Amino acid sequence: MLSKKMKEALNEQINKEMYSAYLYMSMSAHSTNVGLPGFANWFMIQYKEEMEHAMKIYDYVNDRGGKVSLKAIDEPLSTFKDAMDMFQKTLKHEQFITKSINELVDLAIKEKDHATQIFLQWFVTEQIEEEGNDNDIIAKLKLIGENGNGLLMLDKELLARVFTPDTTSENA
Ligand code: FEO
Repeated sequence: MLSKKMKEALNEQINKEMYSAYLYMSMSAHSTNVGLPGFANWFMIQYKEEMEHAMKIYDYVNDRGGKVSLKAIDEPLSTFKDAMDMFQKTLKHEQFITKSINELVDLAIKEKDHATQIFLQWFVTEQIEEEGNDNDIIAKLKLIGENGNGLLMLDKELLARVFTPDTTSENA
């Protein structure tokens, strides 16, 4: 049984993951619009991963006898200066999500909720990967600078990203 505080905080996190999905879907649409299909693919896969994150918490709240309550999703940004701008905003957003996950872990410790602490470990690890991916792409974009050919090469690389469903998820 989840405490009221824990349940509310997890419900908030569902909303944050849904917003993340929405933000990356918007970046995917923008990338398509400016002729970068590889970036569009990368962000659309990111969208799918975020939906998976939201559903993972959704299932967990249900499994623990809590009630999922969905809230309005904020409107995401829809225009971006360039690819670097999208990835800097992505990294900043992921740093915010990492902080939010850490606060959830702090709350689970405070509430002596061992099951939720274990559940959240997956997200702690996932956030290392999320921020790492963004940092890698930002480093490449710095090297590319204003070089259009370099950007097209990176776009081609990002086109190869494939979605790998998380097999530990109930709805995988
Ligand atoms: Fe679900 Fe990108 O954190």
